[in-house]
Amino acid sequence: MTRIRKAVFPVAGLGSRFLPATKAQPKEMLPIVDKPLIQYAVEEAVAAGITEMIFITGRNKRAIEDHFDKAYELEAELEAHNKQALLDLVRQVIPKNVTCIYIRQSAPLGLGHAVLCARPVVGDEPFAVLLADDFMDTSGATRPVLAQMTEAYGDEKCSLLAVQDVPRAHTRQYGIVSATPHKPRLELVSGIVEKPQPEEAPSTPAVVGRYVLSGAIFKHPENLGLGAGGEIQLTDGIAALMQVERVLAYRYDGQRYDCGSKLGYLQATAAMGLKHPETGEGFRAFLKELAADMTRENGHGGT
Ligand code: G1P
Repeated sequence: MTRIRKAVFPVAGLGSRFLPATKAQPKEMLPIVDKPLIQYAVEEAVAAGITEMIFITGRNKRAIEDHFDKAYELEAELEAHNKQALLDLVRQVIPKNVTCIYIRQSAPLGLGHAVLCARPVVGDEPFAVLLADDFMDTSGATRPVLAQMTEAYGDEKCSLLAVQDVPRAHTRQYGIVSATPHKPRLELVSGIVEKPQPEEAPSTPAVVGRYVLSGAIFKHPENLGLGAGGEIQLTDGIAALMQVERVLAYRYDGQRYDCGSKLGYLQATAAMGLKHPETGEGFRAFLKELAADMTRENGHGGT
């Protein structure tokens, strides 16, 4: 099958790096300016032609289901007050031809386990995985990252992992691949290891949260056994898949922000705040003022 129809969104994580903000709300609902992270990821999947969104969810994640559902009271209120633009905004959160499916992951057993939970719905067809806290700004690119990858899938018909080089000191945060050149933007993966220490990392291309995976990854679920950190690692499943099928790394066109970290989240907010039609101008002026204040403070030997 050439067309990727299904996308898996692992959203059961606790979001402990954003406590207390995530005590009672999912981290995936944190907004970049005015849109939740998970909506950006779903829009990226829609732009890649995907019509079945499979959320691997958990306790405290109801807000995600509500976000992609009809909001009767809100719509009635907006309608009654003739707020057409806002009404359109709320109604267009998800296109009508898209189906949302929710599967509970009842134990926090890792990303590989989350993806395994999608197996009854995915079957044996190729599918995408998107990690919403890897936020992709592709305003300067030809198309969103997943659409770039599904296009490459059309030509290559094999699993694809989005990668970017990271500083060696950061390898312990990522799945790290060893790869050799294949075609523009594409490399043949010969090895993958989860979160190696910098001195042990074979190289520095890191997997970021966009995958197109062959259904064969489910054929040997025992390969998705307990791995690094006592969790079921997707990386181990991919390593096993590589033994039977080709896996390519895809160097995407776009800017990724790690919105699983406070700094990355702030950077994404600043970058998108500057591009947002409502806030861009005012925010740019504010940042200039802030920069001028910082220069003055530094000039006066301030901290
Ligand atoms: C997960 C994966 C890792 C990947 C990363 C991308 O790690 O296990 O291989 O590089 O996502 O963001 P996590 O960030 O969930 O610890």
